[in-house]
Formats: sequence, C-alpha cells, structure tokens
Amino acid sequence: DDCIPSLSYGWPQDGALSSFDHAAIRRGFQVYRQVCSSCHSIQYISFRNFVGVTHDEAGAKKLAEEFEVTDAQPNDDGEMFERPAKLFDRYPGPYRNEAEGRAANGGALPPDLSLMTKARHGGIDYVFALLTGYADSPAGKDLLPGLYYNPYFAGGAIAMPPPLMDGQVEYEDGTPATVTQMAKDVSQFLAWCAEPEHDERKKFGVKAVTVLALGIGITAYYKRLRWAPVK
Ligand code: HEM
Repeated sequence: DDCIPSLSYGWPQDGALSSFDHAAIRRGFQVYRQVCSSCHSIQYISFRNFVGVTHDEAGAKKLAEEFEVTDAQPNDDGEMFERPAKLFDRYPGPYRNEAEGRAANGGALPPDLSLMTKARHGGIDYVFALLTGYADSPAGKDLLPGLYYNPYFAGGAIAMPPPLMDGQVEYEDGTPATVTQMAKDVSQFLAWCAEPEHDERKKFGVKAVTVLALGIGITAYYKRLRWAPVK
C-alpha cells in the first residue's frame, strides 16, 4: 500500500567529503518562502543561520527586516510590541498556535518542517517523493473531501493539496521552475534546515582525521625510536 522510496535519489551532499549545493539551498528557500511558508513553519531556523549560506550578513539583515515579530520583552509601558525581525530572531511561522493552524487546514495540522528530513523514514528522498508523488486516486478508491491521493503518504490520503505547479516561482538565478526542480530544491533546503552545521562538521572531520593520522605517525615513529636499543 504505502510506498516508501527504497532508493536514494543521490544528492550533492551525500558523499563523505561533499557539501550542500548552496545554489540549490538558495532556490529551495525561495520555494519555501513563496509556497510552503503559508502553511508550514521552520521553527528551529533563525535569520542568522542564513548568513554565509544563502545570504551575506547585510542580505540576511534585510531579509529579517521584512518580517514583524513580537519582542520577547514588554516596552516601558508594560505592553508587548511588534518590531522588524533581527538576525537573532527565529523565522516566524504562519500561525500563532496549533488551533489556528488546524482551523486554516480543515482540521489537519501542517507539521513544522525544520526537522522533517530527519523525522520521516526515507528522509530527504521521502520529502521529494511526496512532493512529486500526487496522482489520480486509483479506481475504486474514494477519498473524503479535503484529502488528496499520494501513495508516498502513510495511508495514501493526505490533507495537503498538491503544493507545487510548474512556473509557480520565478527563480532569481533563472533556473526553470518545474515541479521536479522546485521539489528537488526545497528538499535540499529542508535537509539543510535539519542540519545547518553539516558543511562545517564535514570540514572539521577532514581536519580531525588529518591531525589524528599525523599523531599516529609521530607516535609510531617515536615508539620505534625509543624501543630500538631494547630489541
Ligand atoms: C504535510 C511539505 C506546502 C499543508 C506536509 C508534510 C511535508 C510537507 C513533508 C508531512 C507529511 C508527513 O506527515 O509525512 C510541504 C512542502 C511544501 C508544502 C515542502 C511547499 C513546497 C503546503 C501548503 C499547505 C500545506 C502550501 C497548505 C495549503 C499541509 C498539511 C499537512 C502537510 C495540512 C498535513 C497533512 C496530513 O496530515 O494529512 N507538508 N508542504 N503544505 N502540509 Fe505541506
């Protein structure tokens, strides 16, 4: 019944020494912002996370200022107030709470997407398959109103309307915005959201392995040197 993608589609970041494709993350953010963010939050991402990834610092500041957030502290009169977001603010979600999210989606709750590529079996491949997997319901399968047939979703009937249509986004870099392209880009963006430290981690891994190898080499040489007279 439910089909889980059984293969990896192969992503630029898959290799042990490979980094994310940052142009793809940037396009994927455009898709998230213009399409998914009307229903889904990315609650663990702050504007500062974009610095050096999709935006430079000035760009990320400008992006943040396009959003209004409620300050964590009341003003001098004891009232909560809204202000333009700053780098340290979380990316604001579409709803104030779960009830509002459900009310806007016929009772279903669009889940937070920041850890989605970790939360579901299949990870990034599942997200891509889901976004490109909408189809006509097979003969004889009646769906309740508000549900859409998607064989990749557990149960086959999902409350999310097909979110992507060809040409929905106008990419800044001129890439043609087909459904597959947008699904591919937003999946990579969400993989980055779940692991923003990914590239740094791999870079550090290279350093660690290099230093360890040197350490092993030096230790081996020293050991042989010290024990040579004993043998
Ligand atoms: C569920 C991704 C756009 C409404 C989901 C799920 C993912 C996802 C990965 C989770 C499926 C699961 O639980 O396994 C996306 C992406 C979008 C997008 C990447 C943009 C390209 C939208 C939009 C809406 C929406 C625009 C609202 C019109 C929902 C709802 C659910 C959902 C209501 C819950 C479905 C259910 O539990 O049956 N989405 N989504 N999504 N999404 Fe979206």
